[in-house]
Amino acid sequence: MGLGLRPQHYQDILGGGGGTVDWFEVISENFMIDGGPALANLMRVRERYPIVMHGVSLSIGSTDPIDVDYLARLKKLVGILQPPFVSDHFCWTGVAGLNTHDLLPLPFNRETLEHICARIDQVQVALGRPIVLENASTYVSFVNSDMAEWDFYIAAARKTGCALLLDVNNVFVNAVNHDFNAESFIDAVPAEFIAYVHLAGHENNATYIIDTHDHPIDDAVWRLYERLVARVGAKPTMIERDDKIPSFKELADELDIARRIALHGAPARKSSAL
Ligand SMILES: [Fe+2]
Repeated sequence: MGLGLRPQHYQDILGGGGGTVDWFEVISENFMIDGGPALANLMRVRERYPIVMHGVSLSIGSTDPIDVDYLARLKKLVGILQPPFVSDHFCWTGVAGLNTHDLLPLPFNRETLEHICARIDQVQVALGRPIVLENASTYVSFVNSDMAEWDFYIAAARKTGCALLLDVNNVFVNAVNHDFNAESFIDAVPAEFIAYVHLAGHENNATYIIDTHDHPIDDAVWRLYERLVARVGAKPTMIERDDKIPSFKELADELDIARRIALHGAPARKSSAL
C-alpha cells in the first residue's frame, strides 16, 4: 500500500514516524535530472522504500513521434530507481511540438487503438520492460469513439502486454462526466491486466466532477474499490493527494482503510472520521 511522495512529508518518512506505508510513487519528470537536492532526497527515501515511477509526458496518444530523448532520460531514471512499475497515462498531452501539460482524452476506436499499440510497443522495446498506463479522468469525449473506454484499455493490454494502472476515482469521475455505469468498468477489467490501483478525492459539482486530488476519497469510490477487490483480490494500491495536502499521518490513516479492504474485503470505511 503506497502514497504519492510529497516533499512536505520527507521528514516523517525519513524519520520513520507517522504511519505504515510500503512504497511511494513519484512523478518521473520531477527526477529526470542530473543530480541536486531533489534527487538526493529521493535516493534517501529509495534506500528504505520501493519507488514506483509515474510519468505525465509520454503522450502515448499523440501523432507526434515519441520523444526518444525523453525515453532515454526516463530509462536512465528507471536504471537508478529500479521501480516495480513504470507508468503513464492513456492520453495525449500535445501535438505539433506543443505541450499542453494536460492529459487530453483519446477517441476510443480501432484506428486510435492501432496507433497507440504501435507506440506502446516502441516504448516497451526502448525501455526493455512492459509499461503501465492509467485511465485518465476526462471532461470531453469524441463523437467518433465507438468502443467503451474499458474495452479500449483491455484491447491495448491484450495486444501489447502493457498493464493498466486502474484509477478507481477516475472511473467514477468519467462515469459521471460521460454518463456510463462505473460498475461496468470496474467489473470488466481482467485481474491479470491490473498492475496497481490509484485512489483519490475529487470535487463533485453534481452534474460534473473535477478530478482535483484535494479531498479525502469519496464513499462512492470506496464502494467501487471494495467491489474491485472482491473480484480481483488485493492489488498494490495507493492514494494520490496533490493539493490541500494533509499530514503524513492523516494520509497513512486513509491508506489503512484501503489496506483493510484489500486484506479483509469487508466494508471498513469510517467516512465520518475522515
Ligand atoms: Fe491517478
